[in-house]
Amino acid sequence: MGRGDDHILLGLIDIRKVFSRRTIDEVTALDGINLDVYEQDFVTIIGSNGAGKSTLLNVIAGIYPPERGGKVCVADQDITNMPEYKHAAYAGRVYQNPSEGTAAKLTIEENMAMALLRGQSRGLRAAINKRRRELFRSALSPLGLGLEDRLSAYAATLSGGQRQSLALVMATISKPAILLLDEHIATLDPRTAETVLELTDMIVKRERMTTIMVTHNMDIALRYGNRLIMMHQGKILVNMGEEEKKKLTIADLVAAFERAAGEEFKDDSIMLSQR
Ligand SMILES: Nc1ncnc2c1ncn2[C@@H]1O[C@H](COP(=O)(O)OP(=O)(O)OP(=O)(O)O)[C@@H](O)[C@H]1O
Ligand SMILES: [Mg+2]
Repeated sequence: MGRGDDHILLGLIDIRKVFSRRTIDEVTALDGINLDVYEQDFVTIIGSNGAGKSTLLNVIAGIYPPERGGKVCVADQDITNMPEYKHAAYAGRVYQNPSEGTAAKLTIEENMAMALLRGQSRGLRAAINKRRRELFRSALSPLGLGLEDRLSAYAATLSGGQRQSLALVMATISKPAILLLDEHIATLDPRTAETVLELTDMIVKRERMTTIMVTHNMDIALRYGNRLIMMHQGKILVNMGEEEKKKLTIADLVAAFERAAGEEFKDDSIMLSQR
């Protein structure tokens, strides 16, 4: 990962998120998150169930605002209270479930046109022309999956791995400032997951994307990216930079998490898969 310069691309200041406030279900999903992500950082986030990982990505993507006092800045612009559709220009997303990132009843090219037009109101068909098709083909062909020759196939006819690869291309095609991946390989079989991960790494490097990738898998969190964050109960417990991460092993990671989270974490660590 080349961090050419030290420009902060994403700044999170004192991000809190409380759900179901003042009910018996009240939960503090994010409990004072401060984080700087530099241009071209590839941050992997690991943490047990309910740690707040998805909530954090949702706040960055503008699905809901943080509690008052929290601030989300992208490229020095405060986007905390921007509506979700405007966040879409900043953040491309790929979710866990292929059906969330791609529309089954649309063809590959219609899906891609939709991604390209995010936030605009022009019709899909009008958006597909010869020049656009060339763009779609050239974006798909590096995947090596032959999708560029199947532009009029329905997304429903693709395999899970193909759909997640398409979702990746869709999330990056309009060159958002940041790519958010929320366990985007979790539903795939191990071999397909590995392929999609390699494609992810390729796209991130080629497009020089600043990226945040959530995973449950410690091995993956170690192998990919230049920074690593561990979350637990709405807090960042471990925030490692490039040099530290390079030397890190899974055993170190478990130990670091246990140290930071204390004894109570011992049971939770089992929930993180190590392979
Ligand atoms: N929309 C919501 N309404 C109420 N509670 C929510 C909502 N979204 C998340 N939560 C709660 O906030 C906490 C954090 O959830 P979140 O989905 O961010 O965890 P996570 O780290 O992504 O977990 P997982 O690894 O299981 O995906 C959980 O206790 C969850 O139940
Ligand atoms: Mg989640």
